[in-house]
Amino acid sequence: MKIVLMVNGETVRAEVEPRLHLGDFLREHLSLTGTHLGCEHGVCGACTVRIDGALARACLVLAVQADGTHVETIEGLSDSGEIADLQKAFHERNALQCGYCTPGMLIAAQDLLRREPDPDRVAIREHLSGNYCRCTGYHAIVDAVAATASARREGTAA
Ligand code: FES
Ligand code: FES
Repeated sequence: MKIVLMVNGETVRAEVEPRLHLGDFLREHLSLTGTHLGCEHGVCGACTVRIDGALARACLVLAVQADGTHVETIEGLSDSGEIADLQKAFHERNALQCGYCTPGMLIAAQDLLRREPDPDRVAIREHLSGNYCRCTGYHAIVDAVAATASARREGTAA
């Protein structure tokens, strides 16, 4: 099937199998390998992207379902500088180890901070509860998100 969509602000035209999911499309057809695949059944959050501004699991969306949408991946958010402060906070606070969960974690955290500029730690944990991390124990991730929220509120974000 032919599809036309925006990916990170650029128009993409492709012909895909109807069964191809968006995660494989991004990684294998567009070489956007920052979108990770862990469970491939909607549990781990490693494949989190934004579709028309809303969080989505790329493993649960068929590429053909993304026809006509605007998909944003970690590469897009990173290149635009939108999450530069969040990335810096993750780095400084050891909020990543192997990094496998990190793209999805960053996109999910940014989604929270766009809607709630002053989340408490419970709200941060709740919002990130759909993103699994096997390395960090989550505490440092919550620290990084809380520190970014605080810096943005105070206008001191990097
Ligand atoms: S790979 Fe999509 S939620 Fe785990
Ligand atoms: S840093 Fe390894 S899974 Fe999160």
